[in-house]
Amino acid sequence: MQYREPKPFPEGFLWSAATAAYQIEGAWDADGKGPSIIDTWTPPEGTSDFTVASDHYHRYGEDVALLAELGLKAYRFSISWPRIIPDGTGEVNPAGIAFYHRLIDALVEHGIEPIVTMYHFDLPLALDQQGAWSNRATIEAFAKYAEILFREYGEKVKYWLTINEQNNMILYGDVIGTSKPGTSKRELYQTNHHLALAQARAFQLCHALVPGGKIGPAPNFALVYPETCHPLDVLAADDLNVIRHWLYFDLAVDGVYNSIAWSYLEEKGATPDILPGDLETLSAGRPDFLGFNYYNTQTVARPSEDDTQRQSKVADQQMSPGEAGVYDSADNPYLAKTEFGWEVDPIGLRASFRALWNRYRLPLLVTENGLGAFDRLEDGHVHDQYRIDYLRDHVAQIRLAIGDGVDALGYCPWSAIDLVSTHQGVAKRYGFVYVDRDEFDLKDLTRHRKDSFYWYQRLIASNGGDLA
Ligand code: BG6
Repeated sequence: MQYREPKPFPEGFLWSAATAAYQIEGAWDADGKGPSIIDTWTPPEGTSDFTVASDHYHRYGEDVALLAELGLKAYRFSISWPRIIPDGTGEVNPAGIAFYHRLIDALVEHGIEPIVTMYHFDLPLALDQQGAWSNRATIEAFAKYAEILFREYGEKVKYWLTINEQNNMILYGDVIGTSKPGTSKRELYQTNHHLALAQARAFQLCHALVPGGKIGPAPNFALVYPETCHPLDVLAADDLNVIRHWLYFDLAVDGVYNSIAWSYLEEKGATPDILPGDLETLSAGRPDFLGFNYYNTQTVARPSEDDTQRQSKVADQQMSPGEAGVYDSADNPYLAKTEFGWEVDPIGLRASFRALWNRYRLPLLVTENGLGAFDRLEDGHVHDQYRIDYLRDHVAQIRLAIGDGVDALGYCPWSAIDLVSTHQGVAKRYGFVYVDRDEFDLKDLTRHRKDSFYWYQRLIASNGGDLA
């Protein structure tokens, strides 16, 4: 339906923006922080590591002032587990605890609602050395960490996200540095089972310890279209939707394994060990809302016999290579691509809202959405009209989704401030604020408001009314 008069954004809509600790903070070993798996991962050649990132750890005061000037109603950031518990299980690091109190207090003083991601890819290295998430003990470690966060910050933080992109960690962990290349499917899906249990524990703990607290998962969502209306293409799209999305959301929302996903795991010899009590734990933890990171949709066809097509594909977390016997990936001829090859599909965001809403009937929060581009700083300015166009088109579709009756909680564009991409360095920028550094030359890290900063400021001030 093309509404002539789209409904307005509701009062209290959370106009937000997002970052993640390891991509923005830097200070990778400061003040007692332990190493994370990201600190020992070698990023692709030619791209920066995360040791300094945007130096937010030291400049958070200036950064929060910028976010306040931007007019944010909320800010999504992640807490670094190894900053709180350096070895993942042992002593708590008081300096780490204090840092996030300072950050949260600064946000609250400016009237910005904190939305905290508990875990965004940066597992403490010590836990990795004990088997990471394939070791069941990591569930207990996470529950302990979660309890510390809820007790420490629960008075001030009411919106919580558990695990960022559990699905991408399983499906593309080797690209983003969260799993080792060559890890077997069996181990990956055992890891997934443990992550789901840890998440369910966090849901329960939040409800027990945070008065008025709301918590949800934050998978990546790339709604899958069939390349044609051939029934086998439609089935292939359905299969990838299950493997990439419903497996994770069904576990989070209903605490059950999706039966089609389970058949896939059986066929791949990758069913996880499920111990007595696990299914009860999964169904006892329930989210209050669903977060989802949206960058694009995907288009697929029935799998061809010929594997060369799949092997020649450039792939990352938003560009699936295809999977033998399951699906081939296809280009969508109706969509443009970013400079990094990701398709751009604003209408797909509305379709995603509808799909999630129809299935789960829970409030929905866009936890990430944004355009990675090669920005240029010219006389202190960044003219990023391309980013404004991208964001405006997506916001317009959220508004239409609201007209569809969807309960949309808020919007967290990625990213609030420039940061280091997961695997494509500093040159791939997303922020409303430019951070003056290059891949290997740190320059002075000064902050500059981009054109998109002023655009988003006007949009927020008009509660989404001024899209121009
Ligand atoms: C999401 C992640 O996958 O996409 C972020 O949650 C990430 O951490 C973002 O930065 C954009 O991806 P990339 O690879 O361009 O940094």
